[in-house]
Amino acid sequence: MTPLHQILLDRLHSVTQLTFAEVMELALYHPEHGYYGPGPRRIGRSGDFYTSVSVGPLYGQLLATLATETCADLRQPSYFCVIEQAAHDGQLAEDVLSSCEFDYIIVEPNPRYEAVQREKLTSFGQRVRWVPSLADAPARPSLFICNELPDAMPVHLIRWDGSAWKELWVQADGEKGLHFQSGPISTEALAAEISRLPQDLPAGYTTEVGLAALGWMRDLANAPFHGKIYIADYGFDHEELYSPERHTGTIRRYHDHKTDDHILEDLGACDLTTHVNFTRLSEVGTAAGLKQQTYSHQGRYLGKLGLPWLATLEGRPPDAATRALLRQYHSLTHPAFMGRSFRVLILEKEKTP
Ligand SMILES: C[S@@+](CC[C@H](N)C(=O)[O-])C[C@H]1O[C@@H](n2cnc3c(N)ncnc32)[C@H](O)[C@@H]1O
Repeated sequence: MTPLHQILLDRLHSVTQLTFAEVMELALYHPEHGYYGPGPRRIGRSGDFYTSVSVGPLYGQLLATLATETCADLRQPSYFCVIEQAAHDGQLAEDVLSSCEFDYIIVEPNPRYEAVQREKLTSFGQRVRWVPSLADAPARPSLFICNELPDAMPVHLIRWDGSAWKELWVQADGEKGLHFQSGPISTEALAAEISRLPQDLPAGYTTEVGLAALGWMRDLANAPFHGKIYIADYGFDHEELYSPERHTGTIRRYHDHKTDDHILEDLGACDLTTHVNFTRLSEVGTAAGLKQQTYSHQGRYLGKLGLPWLATLEGRPPDAATRALLRQYHSLTHPAFMGRSFRVLILEKEKTP
């Protein structure tokens, strides 16, 4: 039994049941025993999963190109910065900072992550600053970037019983341990989101609703900076996500590059994640004042962003370093790797009067 499992059993003595969103929040972010709480885990070959950042420095190089383009779109303001959230161990920050001259702001609520990032980014001196929340970001022209952030936000689990939606609550009993029990929908906000789901799904259809990601989208829209917001993650459109064949939803746990749906096991020792509902992210952002500029498969978007760099390589045989970057380009853009399952959403954020 993991320490987090014990914490949940103790908590379930007093409250009898918890929403899965509450369990997932603790399993990922409990400061001592959550998967992400104590500090940045290894990502990549020796970790539990790969991300575009762990593929290599080309991703940061391409995002530096996007920063330069965004600065030009904003008519070269005298001050422009890149803001990153979910900076993890600071690897993407290092890759972007090495490829452009802009200042860099990291939104980091966890002091242990900030300490790791500070150490990694020391050589960039005053170019890097930290703020604890989006509301503390500077009121400056900026490019906001995040890679694989909303997929790591808590979700509620729900099941269609043939005539109504029920929420899956987590309960504990001696023999069964932690288990799911159908019950009423926990909040009005969740019920409102559920009312957008198709009603013609088969009985037993189980899925998730990511309310936390929608709240984060509103926070982004209300943050003081203006410019562009770049969000990259794996996910679907609303219709694809809630299609009849996806009848167990997308919630999965990851450990050592293996994935399964045993989401109440080894809590705190495995990553828990869901595919992002990009349609709702964009709708909520737009309703809060943002404007969708781009929504694309990552392969198509990064493929195009990388064309000027590819053009510089023409006519000369690639050296070993260039060959390594070309392999990264392939991993980031090829449909069989990260090009199709990952999506990019870019929103414009106007200056608030
Ligand atoms: C799947 S990892 C992605 C890490 C990194 N961006 C990458 O792509 O390699 C999710 C990250 O989101 C971070 N995170 C979750 N909620 C956050 C928040 N509210 N503010 C900043 N980081 C957050 C976690 O600590 C974790 O580092």
